[in-house]
Amino acid sequence: MSNLVAVLPGDGIGEEIIEQAVRVLSALKLDLQLEKADVGGRAYDVYGHPLPEHTLALAKKAKAVLFGAVGDWKYDTLPREFRPEQAILGLRKNLGLFANLRPAILYPQLANASTLKPEIVSGLDILIVRELTGDVYFGTPRGNRRVEEGPFKGEQEGFDTMRYAETEVRRIAHIAFQAAQKRQKKLCSVDKANVLETSQFWRHIMLEVAQEYPDVTLTHMYIDNAAMQLVRAPKAFDVIVTGNLFGDILSDEASMLTGSIGMLPSASLNASQQGLYEPSHGSAPDIAGKNLANPLATILSAAMMLRFSFQNEEAALRIEKAVAQVLEQGYRTPDIYEEGTTKVSTSEMGDAVIAT
Ligand code: NAI
Ligand code: MG
Repeated sequence: MSNLVAVLPGDGIGEEIIEQAVRVLSALKLDLQLEKADVGGRAYDVYGHPLPEHTLALAKKAKAVLFGAVGDWKYDTLPREFRPEQAILGLRKNLGLFANLRPAILYPQLANASTLKPEIVSGLDILIVRELTGDVYFGTPRGNRRVEEGPFKGEQEGFDTMRYAETEVRRIAHIAFQAAQKRQKKLCSVDKANVLETSQFWRHIMLEVAQEYPDVTLTHMYIDNAAMQLVRAPKAFDVIVTGNLFGDILSDEASMLTGSIGMLPSASLNASQQGLYEPSHGSAPDIAGKNLANPLATILSAAMMLRFSFQNEEAALRIEKAVAQVLEQGYRTPDIYEEGTTKVSTSEMGDAVIAT
């Protein structure tokens, strides 16, 4: 358990990008035991299921899962339970992964990739912590019913329930405060406490947990304002923590601030520092097998793995610094290429990271 990493490349560019991350990890000569297994469409082809039992067993036993991507158009007609995406949902559920961490980093060298003005986003480095298992997505009761009173009495309506239990808010709060401690020590909790009971409760628990982290500055912001500030002055944030619904929207908004999908890592954690680490992008079937994909999001996901599952901040920083350095040296895969830089392949990008 303690040093085991389940390596699940999956489909499309998964194999190519994971290979580079594994090479980088090996170059660091850490005490890690890497074990590979099939997942996604390729697992369906061989075993008849996108998350075969032996793959799930390996993931459960491991301290961390390093995941490539799953999916391909050729599986689009399968019944839902056999679709490649079910593998990620199955892993989240079985490992109890409730915290989704998505950094949005825009290296100064790539400032032109964003649709925002370089002075607003250049050097952006924020982290969004999204709760994954609660909120209006899963609250009950939900469904269809007859309206009993008011102007729409007698009609049918659709309804959901927004809810958060104390334990759910507490555990995501701890993850967010601890992440902030490793960064600028600024945490912004995003809610809609002016309107929602759920948000008032969320805010109350955040304030309680804050007592245990006196070195972190906690602020609160309403979701509508946060969505606006994220495009107006995103660099004012350090860590943002929020619920499932608001986090879904904010994390996609934040990823677009950077404009480079091939650069964004992510982590999904449970309470025992077990985690699944994967690039934010998909399996990119359009460029699969051509040695064109950008492996940096996956390499940066491996750095997050060392930080959060293995408490090896030093090795994580080493990888992150190497990535910044290869960009500084001008190496670019085609997705981030600009005139005046050096175009490299997937494996050459891996070589460059290892060489620095
Ligand atoms: P995508 O992220 O795979 O691709 C979108 C565009 O970005 C494509 O043009 C692709 O070539 C490019 N791109 C993505 N990653 C890149 C990289 N590392 N380097 C260079 N270019 C890159 O999203 P799309 O096309 O919507 O989905 C393709 C497949 O991936 C689908 O089957 C989808 O279900 C699956 N998917 C899987 C995810 C996962 O495994 N977590 C997440 C999102 C989508
Ligand atoms: Mg989304």
